[in-house]
Order: sequence, then structure tokens, then C-alpha cells
Amino acid sequence: MKSVIITGGGSGLGAALAEEYGKQYKVILIGRSLKKLNSVADSLNSQGIKADCYSCDITSMDEVQHVFGPLFQREDVHMLINNAGSGIFGPLVELSVDEIETMLDTNIKGTIFTTKTSLPYFKERKEGKIMNIISTAGLRGKVNESVYCASKFAVKGFTESLVKELDGTGIQVTAVYMGGMDTPFWDHSDHVKDKSRFKTPEQVALQIAKEDQGKPEIFIDR
Ligand SMILES: NC(=O)c1ccc[n+]([C@@H]2O[C@H](COP(=O)([O-])OP(=O)(O)OC[C@H]3O[C@@H](n4cnc5c(N)ncnc54)[C@H](OP(=O)(O)O)[C@@H]3O)[C@@H](O)[C@H]2O)c1
Repeated sequence: MKSVIITGGGSGLGAALAEEYGKQYKVILIGRSLKKLNSVADSLNSQGIKADCYSCDITSMDEVQHVFGPLFQREDVHMLINNAGSGIFGPLVELSVDEIETMLDTNIKGTIFTTKTSLPYFKERKEGKIMNIISTAGLRGKVNESVYCASKFAVKGFTESLVKELDGTGIQVTAVYMGGMDTPFWDHSDHVKDKSRFKTPEQVALQIAKEDQGKPEIFIDR
């Protein structure tokens, strides 16, 4: 059975995408907290969806290689969804160096590390799909989101470049842009007053899966 690797699969959009893509794939969930990943995997298994999970901090290339290498040997991985992300909001002067590095390391380097590690396997098979979950924060600047936006603009550039670099190889690369979602993403911040007005991750995951037809860009919101 073909598999999809979903980073950040232990909560929010990643868990919703796992349920949606689990209709056609075996799902492999990646994240740092095994507790969260196990709980999503158990729920998927109880719905008849095949799901495994592995703890991996995507900001570490060593960890990514250690986890992804054996996975690609063992599983028929057809798709990588780079969904894991971190957002810390506020005026730039108030962000700590740690907070800045967490966002840049997770959103930019994490996406690059997992993609770089997966690509040789996709290239060998001459097929594969890479989907990068960005945000409307990758389309325009926003107040109190300077570093988050910088990280998502970077992933936009990374994705657009790979679309060109991999043209004709059989490997599809897709950028996905969406606005706010009602997920745990906002739980440690007062940047958003009422996240319940946002779309649910299930609504967004359903729309992504419907529009996932080989296009380089999917706009859930603009
Ligand atoms: N919520 C929104 O309004 C919104 C809007 C547009 C775009 N997005 C984007 O959507 C994606 C999913 O976010 P979400 O809303 O579903 O938030 P979420 O529930 O907080 O999910 C983020 C996931 O990323 C994982 N993660 C964070 N750092 C990681 C690391 N170093 N290594 C591996 N996994 C890591 C987290 O799991 P662990 O902590 O267990 O590692 C968590 O499960 C993100 O890229 C976010 O930027 C969100």
C-alpha cells in the first residue's frame, strides 16, 4: 500500500490531513510528541485507516535522516506533506532570539531537511508528491507576524523553485495557502482573540484533498 508521511501529524491540520489522505494511503505521522501522535494513530486505526507514528524533531537533519531513511526502505512512500510549523507572534522587538530561531528552524529548515532527505527516493522511483503547507502569511506581510511571515515567504520560494527544478521528473510539488484555522496553533498566544471563528482543520483538509490534482499551488484562502 502506498504511504504518505505527514509532519506535525499529532494535532490540528496534520491530524485532519491524516484522516483525509488515510482514505487512499497508509499514513505515517511525524512529530516530537509521541503521546499526541499515538492518540491520532489510535483514532485513525479505529476508523480502519492504517497509521504508524514516529517521533522526530524536523529541525535536526540527523534525526530526519535517522527516521526517514529506514521509513523509505520499509514503506512505499508516495507523498510527503510538510505540515509541521511554529508561530510565535508579537512586535519584532519583543521576540526573543530563541523564538525567532524556533520559527525559522521549524518552518524553513525543517521543511528543507525532510524534503532533501525524501527526494533521492522519489527520484529513484521517478514519482512522488511533496506538499508544503504554507499560509496566507506566505503571501503578504501582517502586523506582529514579521518572523512567521518571513519563514512562510521562504517556504513559498523554496516550493516554487522546486516546482521548476523537478519539472519533468515525475515528482509533483505543491504549495498550499490558507488563512486561520481553529487548531492548537493559537493556544499559547493572544494574537487571535477568538479562533472558533476560523475554519476547522477538517474543512481545510477536505478542500486540500479535493484540489490536490497536480497543481503547483492550492489557494484555500488568498
Ligand atoms: N492554525 C492556523 O491558523 C494556520 C493558518 C495557516 C497556516 N497554518 C500552518 O498549518 C500548519 C499546521 O499547523 P496547525 O494549525 O495544525 O497547528 P498545530 O496543531 O500547532 O500543529 C503543528 C504541529 O507541528 C508539530 N511540530 C512543531 N515543531 C516540530 C518539530 N520541530 N518537529 C516535528 N514536528 C513539529 C507539532 O507537534 P509536536 O509539538 O509534537 O512536535 C504540531 O503537531 C503549520 O505549518 C502552520 O504554520 C496554520
